[in-house]
Amino acid sequence: MTSIRKISENIYYLGVSDYKYTKFENHIPIPTGMAYNTYLIADEKTALIDTVEASLCGQFLDNLSEVLKESGKSLDYVVVTHMEPDHSASLFRVLELYPNATIVFSKKAQAMFYQFFGDVKVNELIIDEGSVLELGKHSLEFFSAPMVHWPEVMMCYEKYTKTLFSADAFGAFGGLHGNLFDSEVEFTDSIIEDYRRYYTNIVGKYGMQTNRAIDKALKYDIKTICPLHGYILQKEIGRFIELYRKWANYEPEVNGVLVIYASMYDNTKNAAMELAKMLKDRGVKKVEVKDVSAQDATYLVSDTFKYSDIVLASVTHNNNIYILMESYISAVVALAIQNKRFYFIENGTWAPASAKLMREKLAALKKCELSETVVSIKSALNNESREKLVELADEIANNINK
Ligand SMILES: Cc1cc2nc3c(=O)[nH]c(=O)nc-3n(C[C@H](O)[C@H](O)[C@H](O)COP(=O)(O)O)c2cc1C
Ligand SMILES: [Fe+2]
Ligand SMILES: [Fe+2]
Repeated sequence: MTSIRKISENIYYLGVSDYKYTKFENHIPIPTGMAYNTYLIADEKTALIDTVEASLCGQFLDNLSEVLKESGKSLDYVVVTHMEPDHSASLFRVLELYPNATIVFSKKAQAMFYQFFGDVKVNELIIDEGSVLELGKHSLEFFSAPMVHWPEVMMCYEKYTKTLFSADAFGAFGGLHGNLFDSEVEFTDSIIEDYRRYYTNIVGKYGMQTNRAIDKALKYDIKTICPLHGYILQKEIGRFIELYRKWANYEPEVNGVLVIYASMYDNTKNAAMELAKMLKDRGVKKVEVKDVSAQDATYLVSDTFKYSDIVLASVTHNNNIYILMESYISAVVALAIQNKRFYFIENGTWAPASAKLMREKLAALKKCELSETVVSIKSALNNESREKLVELADEIANNINK
């Protein structure tokens, strides 16, 4: 069984979608699987662009040998956009099977190649900014996209078909479920969320570098984007350039409030829900309340990029922040999120301390406002803390509605 699809006259899709693994990078939930895309240009010369995750190597190699057999060609080049193992783990297997092929990579990727594969002998071609690989009618022009999302990333533009091979940029979580082109699927909110959650958690820290890479890419006339995960983009290119600009600039997509609560026995949850109701009463249209324990932090990180205002409500737990809230905050800080307003609600039965602790952690973020108002709850909301909650609701509604 092969999963080859023709993209244009001489370009083939050889990728594999996996539905067995439930976690990407061994920690990020992928409930709808994951696609590992790779492409072959079969012109006078042939060039394979990247390989796949080690566990999917068999299916991918079947695809490769089938396409080469049908086109009556051998493999001339293997282009490496970057050395992350989800695309490079099968690289050496390919070079063993096609020993005459030349590996095409940047100087930085070359060093990583030997770090991963040890002292092996391969044919090499080092490419740099502006290098062109001629394949016949088709040619690949390379440009660097450092930190999107590894330091050695090279994207390339195929001039004849106006195709951008964008490495991990414009990728998504989720298998392709028998489809390939964006025109074959409906881009529902949940598919967009697969793109947002992928970008924000994988590339999110490197907004400035993402903008630079997009600037470089947009110098070309792009008709097709072939990323290493997710669908091939054609009709949706405009939408994703716009979304990537927003995400890279840490611009909220929604002027609204995300309330994340951490609660063991529902008292903190009740306060979060009451706040949501107060916000609705004050005309705030977009409010979403989420239990920090109900989903993986990667979903909350994605929501955090999306919303302008974030309320964090946490119990105090062993004189600390509730562990899952702490882990979410660590992720947000590690991604250096900007342009958010954060607000705090704490609960503690004997010594509430979580608001101060959450604020201290978030103080590392640039261009974020941390509200001075603290709703401090002793076990359960009472008149005094409810008054403070009203004050908080007024403050948030003012910020949203201005
Ligand atoms: C295991 C455990 C540890 C706690 N540690 C603290 C603490 O260090 N300081 C404090 O003021 N309250 C502490 N509490 C109380 C909670 O912060 C909180 O007041 C209580 O769970 C009610 O909130 P909830 O209904 O939202 O869970 C602890 C509760 C539990 C179950
Ligand atoms: Fe990658
Ligand atoms: Fe990847």
